[in-house]
Amino acid sequence: MTNALSLILNGVAVDLDGSVSDEPLVWIIRDKLGLKATKFGCGHGGCGACTMHLAGCAVTSCNTLGKDAAGKKVAARFGQGAGSGGYPRVAR
Ligand code: FES
Repeated sequence: MTNALSLILNGVAVDLDGSVSDEPLVWIIRDKLGLKATKFGCGHGGCGACTMHLAGCAVTSCNTLGKDAAGKKVAARFGQGAGSGGYPRVAR
C-alpha cells in the first residue's frame, strides 16, 4: 500500500498516488500533472532549466524528489511572479 503524496502546486492542492514519491519532481509536474512549461535540460542540477520554488526556495526539480515536496507549496512556471496572479501565461 502506498501513501498519498499531497502538495500545493501554484496555489492548488494536489493529491497524487504515493508511488511517485521517489520520482524527480520535474517528471511529476510535467508528466503526472501536465505542466509542460516546466523544462528539463541536463538532469543533474547544472543548467537550471527545471528550477521552481519549493516552500519559497529555488530548487532544481530534476534532482528534487516528490517526497521532498510533500505538504509544501510548489511554484512551477506560471506559478511564479509578483502578486497572487503570477505572470501572464505566455507558453505551454
Ligand atoms: S534539468 Fe538541468 S538543472 Fe534540472
